[in-house]
Order: sequence, then C-alpha cells, then structure tokens
Amino acid sequence: MGSKNKLKRFKENETFDNVFQPLREDVYKGEFPLKGKWNTFFKNDNPIILELGCGKGEYTVGLAKLHKDKNFIGVDIKGARFWRGAKTAIDQNLPNVAFIRSQIELIDQLFAENEISEIWITFPDPQIKYKRTKHRLTNKLFLDKYCHILNETGVVNLKTDSEFMHGYTLGLLHGSGLEVIYANHDVYKNAGSPKEVLTIQTFYENQYLEKGKPITYIQFKVR
Ligand SMILES: C[S@@+](CC[C@H](N)C(=O)[O-])C[C@H]1O[C@@H](n2cnc3c(N)ncnc32)[C@H](O)[C@@H]1O
Repeated sequence: MGSKNKLKRFKENETFDNVFQPLREDVYKGEFPLKGKWNTFFKNDNPIILELGCGKGEYTVGLAKLHKDKNFIGVDIKGARFWRGAKTAIDQNLPNVAFIRSQIELIDQLFAENEISEIWITFPDPQIKYKRTKHRLTNKLFLDKYCHILNETGVVNLKTDSEFMHGYTLGLLHGSGLEVIYANHDVYKNAGSPKEVLTIQTFYENQYLEKGKPITYIQFKVR
C-alpha cells in the first residue's frame, strides 16, 4: 500500500467513532478511560470478544455479523490495516464492533480483570527464532495477561497455518496443565471445527490456502 493511501486511512481512522487510538504513554500510566467501562461505549452489558493482531479485522467483523448479541474488538498496531474492518462495520451498521490501535502487550491496561469473554488470535507471526519468544502471542507472559482479563468461563481460540505455533501452544498448555477444549491440525480436512472457524477467512489465511497449507485450530482455557 502506498504511503499516500496509508495517510488517508490514518486520517479517516481519526474520524471513525468505532476506532480508539490511545497514546502509549497514557495507557502505561493507567489512563485509558474505557478500561472496565467498555459497556458505556457499546451501550449494553453484552459479552466482549477480542481479536488480537486482527489485521483487517475479518474475525471481528465476521463474528459481529453472526452474533449481534455480543461485542467485538479488534486490536492491532497497524491502523491502515484495521481501517478496512472499521469502515466495513460503519458501512454495514454494526454497532457491536470497535478497533483499538495498540500493542497487544498493553491489553491488561486496556481491559479490566474479567471484562473479556473470549479471545481470538488469528494467524499470528509465529516468531520462530528463540530470541523472539517474548513476542509469541501464546507465550506464558501473554497467557497470564489473557487469564487476567478473561472471565471465569473465558476461552482463547488460536487459528494458524504455522505448525510450529500450533505445536508450541499445545506443548505449553500441556506443560502448564491448562485445558485444551478442542484441537484440529487440518480444519478443512478433518470434520468437527466450529462453523466460525470454517466460514470466516482472513487475508493471511487466504494466502496460505492458495499455497495448499493446512490450517490448524485450538480452543483452550487459561485458568
Ligand atoms: C500475520 S498478521 C495477521 C493479520 C490477520 N489476523 C490475518 O489473519 O490476516 C499479524 C498481525 O498482528 C499484528 N501484531 C503483531 N504483533 C503485535 C503486537 N505485539 N501488538 C499489536 N499488533 C501486533 C501485526 O500488525 C499484524 O497485523
């Protein structure tokens, strides 16, 4: 995408009511006003579901269309990407959608304890190199943050093309005694995945599907 187009999207994001772009310094200081109060934005007490590293926000928007009685928030650091999802939500009149431009590392400053019902992690960078372990979205530090913001029945969904990420996550869950509710190492070949896993496809997923890569899915608990 050209830099002119990106700038146009950044400008438009500033005008969208469903986009939040808090300053990192303010979030660090604990000054994000919607933390613990997301119901005031959505104007209801419906469950809140996050998509982390949402890119263009296909899961945020796709799930919001399927579940009007739930709220969905996409989190990504790249505003020019989630512009797509935010604009679609506005054009299609989906009041149960929001996007936040932030580092995922800060989610415990954006959401209060127990405020979230479910998390989707869709095609994250697997961060295969050992020195990148701390950036892997299912490492122990991230799981602890998810545990903090998820309510008692909360679950995490991981959909990925990366055999490494799938195996790493299963191994970590097993080693930590955390419950794997469901696992499938090739969702389009082996029956049984929830319909949301099969019917919503992301930008990155489509590229992997074109290359014939199997897509994997795990649903798990973090407490
Ligand atoms: C491989 S892309 C996948 C995007 C989308 N989920 C999809 O499937 O098309 C990973 C996304 O995660 C975002 N991301 C990675 N690490 C992040 C972090 N620590 N905080 C915020 N966003 C992050 C990137 O900006 C990117 O949009």
